[in-house]
Amino acid sequence: MNCTFMHKRIPVAEIEIDDATGFIQKIGKIYAPEHLPIGITVRKGVADRTAFNDWWTDRSIPASRSGIREALETLKVSSTKMLLTRCYGLSLSDQYWIRPEDSGLRWEEINFFENDFSDDIGDILFGENKKKDILNFGSPDSTSDGNLKKRWKIIDGKRCLIKGGSNPFRQQPFNEVIASEIMRRLDIPHVPYTVIWNKNAPYSVCEDFVNKDTELVPAWRILKFKKRDNNTSWYRHFVNCCEALGIKDVIPFLDRMIITDYIIANEDRHLNNFGAIRNAETLEWLGMAPIYDSGSSLGYDKMPAQMRSENDVQCKPFKNHHTEQLKLVTSFDRIDFNALSGISEYITELLSCEGAVDYIDESRIRAIAAGVERRINNLNQFAVAHTAECKDSTDDDVEEDIAEDYTPKMNM
Ligand SMILES: Nc1ncnc2c1ncn2[C@@H]1O[C@H](COP(=O)(O)OP(=O)(O)O)[C@@H](O)[C@H]1O
Ligand SMILES: [Mg+2]
Repeated sequence: MNCTFMHKRIPVAEIEIDDATGFIQKIGKIYAPEHLPIGITVRKGVADRTAFNDWWTDRSIPASRSGIREALETLKVSSTKMLLTRCYGLSLSDQYWIRPEDSGLRWEEINFFENDFSDDIGDILFGENKKKDILNFGSPDSTSDGNLKKRWKIIDGKRCLIKGGSNPFRQQPFNEVIASEIMRRLDIPHVPYTVIWNKNAPYSVCEDFVNKDTELVPAWRILKFKKRDNNTSWYRHFVNCCEALGIKDVIPFLDRMIITDYIIANEDRHLNNFGAIRNAETLEWLGMAPIYDSGSSLGYDKMPAQMRSENDVQCKPFKNHHTEQLKLVTSFDRIDFNALSGISEYITELLSCEGAVDYIDESRIRAIAAGVERRINNLNQFAVAHTAECKDSTDDDVEEDIAEDYTPKMNM
């Protein structure tokens, strides 16, 4: 299929996509190299096809998404990449899409920010197959990332992301709410989440923080703006890339994200779980995105004893251990830890709600609430002793930074 790769209304490049595999086979004329996704370089008018394919593949639902195999069988589609062309690659997190040759399609008529979209893909991803003869594939669910079961829905006119939790505790939707409350109290820009129930299972809901003019650029892309040398830490490299791009207030943002992730013992702040926002047409940077996806935290897959020991808490994106990552914080000045007093009561009440009892028992609730209190105390002490000095070393730097896989582990 020949098409034009578009950024909102701007033609960026001519591309040819293989109908059988969904791969980008050829890249033709480039009209607007500055609008290519960051990290796709152009040399002598030729764009890096491997980098383009990596980006395009990353745009599809990951093969590790919970329930994806069954969904593909129902859809009679061989891979998630084959779903991309069926929705023109449109998303609710950015403004890229493909315009088939001679289709005459305009962004105004098809973007999901202003036009309704089909529930068919979302229904199938959620196992709610309505047995239709003809499915409408026009859905932002085909371009959504992450391993948890999720779908977009228009609720009261707002685009909302609905996301499940992993077995056996289904804790992530509650964790999103707890993380939102902690950040609200600490005055940290964040995406607010609430919990809804569907067939006795909890789901988190949040509104789209991107709109028809803006887009999310994940940290993963930002890091590709420059080449890192081996003596530069991932943290420093990220700050350098942001500064080179002109993204403002990165260090205060990272301070707040690292502090939040310490409090909630987040295990999955990988490089697609934070990013910056820009205007898709002018490419002007608007700042870091509000903090989202904090659910893989608070011992979500652990037993209470493991939560208490805190021995095997993973840490991302910069260091392997939260205590090391905390040392990257430049300033605790604007963090009012007193605002968190009573947070364990808030957590206990939230997790004691009627539906949660099927998944989360009392000893679990106690361990979660006590863990948060303990880490706030540690943090308070750390903040008092803190000297405003950020080490720039590669010690304990993460090597592999991939998303959490929720396949149940054998020892659970
Ligand atoms: N509120 C939101 N607005 C816009 N895009 C979002 C929002 N929340 C998540 N996303 C996008 O959807 C992707 C998947 O969502 P995420 O919450 O990270 O799911 P998971 O927990 O499965 O990783 C994110 O990487 C991001 O690109
Ligand atoms: Mg995520």
